[in-house]
Amino acid sequence: MPLELDILTLFPGWFAWLGEERHVRNAIGSGELALGVHDMRPFSDLPHHAVDDTPYGGGAGMVLRVDTTVAAVEGVHGAPLDAVRARRRVIALDARGRRFDDAYARELAGAEAVTLLCGRYEGFDQRVLDHVATEALSLGPYVLAGGEAAAMVVVDAVARHLPGALGDEESAEEESFAPALDGLPEYPHYTRPASFRGWEVPEILRSGDHGAIAAWRRAQSERLAGEPAGSEPDLG
Ligand SMILES: C[S@@+](CC[C@H](N)C(=O)[O-])C[C@H]1O[C@@H](n2cnc3c(N)ncnc32)[C@H](O)[C@@H]1O
Repeated sequence: MPLELDILTLFPGWFAWLGEERHVRNAIGSGELALGVHDMRPFSDLPHHAVDDTPYGGGAGMVLRVDTTVAAVEGVHGAPLDAVRARRRVIALDARGRRFDDAYARELAGAEAVTLLCGRYEGFDQRVLDHVATEALSLGPYVLAGGEAAAMVVVDAVARHLPGALGDEESAEEESFAPALDGLPEYPHYTRPASFRGWEVPEILRSGDHGAIAAWRRAQSERLAGEPAGSEPDLG
C-alpha cells in the first residue's frame, strides 16, 4: 500500500513542481507514494469561500477558522473527522510544533496516511491544533509566511525514505543523521580532480586502505557533530 500523503493548502499552485521532482516522481511511479494537493477554500460554505476571520481579543492579522478547516479535512477525505483522525496522522504545520528531523521523517515514511495542514496569516484557530490535528510539526524556531514551504520539505525528506525513490538504495542509508551513522552528520565527499587551485583531496581517501578510510570518515562525522559544516576543516 502506498503512503497516502495529502496536503491541504490555500495555495495549491505552490506544489505544481513537487510531483515532478525526481525522487518524489520515482516514489509515485513505483506505487509507494500517493500524493494529493487540495485547495481548502472551495470547502468553505461562507460568502466568497472565506476561510479566515479576525481574532477574538483583538490584535493584528487574520486567523484560519476551525469550521472551514474541518470542512476541508472531512471533504477531502470523505469521512467524519473522528474517522479521519483514527486512520491518518493529521499534522498542522506550526512553528511551535515538534521539530522535524530525520527520525520524524522516517516515522512518517512508515505511516499509513498523513495529512499536512498548511497555515497562513496568524495561523490556525487553536481548536484546529487541539481537536483537528493529531500533532503539530515545526521546521525550526523561525516564522515562515505559510506552511507550504514546510510541507514541501516534509514531502521531500519523507519521499527519500520510500523504496524506489532513490536510484541507489544505499544512498538513503548512509546519510546525515541516519541510524547507520549513529545519527551523526555525514563525512565529507570528494571527487576528481585530486588537486584544484591548491585544494587537495585528503591523501587517506586515495590510499586504498578501506579500514583507514572508514576510521577517517567516522572521525570527520564526529568532528562535524561538534562544529557545523562550512567551518574551517581540520583534515589532518
Ligand atoms: C505567519 S505564520 C504564523 C506564525 C504565528 N503567528 C506564530 O507567531 O507562530 C503562518 C503559517 O506558516 C506556517 N509556519 C510558519 N513557520 C513555520 C515553521 N517554522 N514550521 C512549520 N510551519 C511554519 C504555519 O502553518 C503557520 O500557521
